[in-house]
Amino acid sequence: MSVAAENPGTENPAQPIDFHSGFYGLDQEYSGWVDDVRGRIPPGLTGTFFRNGPGTMEMGGRRYGHWFDGPGMISAVTFTGGRAHFKNRYIRTTKYVEEKKSNKILFRGFGTHLDGGFRGNFLRPLSNPANTSINWHGDKLCAFYEASQPYLLDPATLETRGVEFYDGALNTMKNMSAHGKINYRTGHHINFGVNVAGLGITGLKFGLDLYDIDPQGRVASTSRIPLKSFPFVHDFGVTENYAVFLLSSITMGVTGPILGTAAISDVTEYRMNKPVTGIIVDLRDMKVVRTFELPPALIVHFGNSYEQGDEIVTDFIRSTDPGNFAAIKDVFTLERMLGAPLCRYRINVKTGEITHEEYFHAPPGEFPSWDMQKTCYPSRYTYYVAPVDNGTPYFYNSVVKLDAETGDFKVGDYGQHRYTSEALFVPRDGAKSEDDGYLLSFVYDATSHRTEIVILDALEPETEIAAVKLSHHVPFGFHGHFTDRVFI
Ligand SMILES: [Fe+2]
Repeated sequence: MSVAAENPGTENPAQPIDFHSGFYGLDQEYSGWVDDVRGRIPPGLTGTFFRNGPGTMEMGGRRYGHWFDGPGMISAVTFTGGRAHFKNRYIRTTKYVEEKKSNKILFRGFGTHLDGGFRGNFLRPLSNPANTSINWHGDKLCAFYEASQPYLLDPATLETRGVEFYDGALNTMKNMSAHGKINYRTGHHINFGVNVAGLGITGLKFGLDLYDIDPQGRVASTSRIPLKSFPFVHDFGVTENYAVFLLSSITMGVTGPILGTAAISDVTEYRMNKPVTGIIVDLRDMKVVRTFELPPALIVHFGNSYEQGDEIVTDFIRSTDPGNFAAIKDVFTLERMLGAPLCRYRINVKTGEITHEEYFHAPPGEFPSWDMQKTCYPSRYTYYVAPVDNGTPYFYNSVVKLDAETGDFKVGDYGQHRYTSEALFVPRDGAKSEDDGYLLSFVYDATSHRTEIVILDALEPETEIAAVKLSHHVPFGFHGHFTDRVFI
C-alpha cells in the first residue's frame, strides 16, 4: 500500500511532491532501543532530545485545516553509552482523547472549521493540540501550543499528567506561548501569552502577558502590556534584562472566528504597508521601556538575543516576501519552501537608535537555533535549516551554520529527498569552542518513508557523525529541546 493510500486525509489531490508525505501521520507509539545506526554515536553524547509536532494531520479520514492543528506527539531520543533509545507518544490532550474516541474532528483550530457553519462553530473554543514545542525546566517537562496552556508530561514515559496552570498564573482563558526562553545562568524561564483583556467601547481589548518562571518552575512575576489589536507574535527575544517583541505586519480578525463564521487562518493577512511594532520590556520591573516601528515584515522566529553596553542585539528571520506567508498558510499543497534571511538588529535602549544587518549572502531559511546554554548572552553561531538546491524539491533539506563574527557560513546538506525541520545544537563533552558540538535533527527520507535522527558535526556540518535509523517515519515537527538528563 502506498503511503498516500495509508493516509487518505492527507493526500494532495493535485500532484504530491515527495516531501508532502513527511506530513503524513504516525498512529503507532514506539518505545525501544534502536541499534540500526549508520556511523557511531559519540559515547560522550548523553541526554534526551525531545521534539514536538503534530502526530497526524487527519482524523476519521478528514484532514485538519492547517499544519498547526494536528494533535501533538512527542518524540524522545535518549543517548547514553553510545546507544540511542527512541519513544513517541501522543499527548492525551482533551482534543486528542475525544477526537480519537469518536474518530472525528470535534474541535476548531487555527485553520480547522467544523461542519455546520455558524451553528456548528459559534462560540466553540479553539482546541489545544499542545503540538508546538517542549521544554524541561523546573523539574517539569511541558509541551506548549501557541495559544493555550502547556501540558505536563512524565519525562521517562511521556505519559500525560495534565494541564500545567502554574498554580493559577494561567487559566483556561490565559495562555502561554510556545517560545519561552530559558536563561541557563539564572535558571529563569521567560515566556509570554496573547490574551483577551476585556471589552471596551470600541470592542475587544487585548493584552500581551509576560511571565517570569523561577528555577523551581513557579511563576514569580507577571505583567500585562495592553494592545489595541490582536497581534501576530509567535516568538520573542530575551536578554539578561530585557524582552524584545516585534509584532509582525499581519492582521488577524477576531470577529469571524469568535462568531464561528471563519477560521483564524481565513482572516489572517499579511499587510505589506503595516509597520512592525517593536516593544522592549525591562524584565527587572516588567515595564515597557521603549516602543518603536520597523519597516513591514513577517517575523516568525528569533535567534539569540543579548546585551552589549546600552544595545540589545537580537537575531531573527525577517521576510518581506508574501510567498513565505502563503507557505505558512498551507504547507499541504506547497510546491516550494522559500525561507528568509537571518538578520541582526541592534537597538540602543537609551537613545532608541536602531541599526541592522541582514545576512543576504547566506541561504534563506527558518528555525534558527544556537547553543541554548548561551541564551540571553553573546553567541557567535546561529544554525538554521534551509531549502537549498540539491537536485530535489525545495523543502528544508540542509542546515546552515552562520558565523556572525565573520559572516562566513557552511551548509550541511542532508541529501536528496531528505528533509528536516529544526536542528538543535548540543555541546560536545569538554567542548573547546562555541561550535564544538553536534547538530541533532529528525531527517525524513521521502524515498523510504522513514526517519533518521541525524547527528552532524557542528564544527563542519557537512560531516555526518551518525544516524539513528528508525523503522518508521516521524511526521515533520516544530521545536525540540535537549537536556543532559537521561530519561528512559
Ligand atoms: Fe515556532
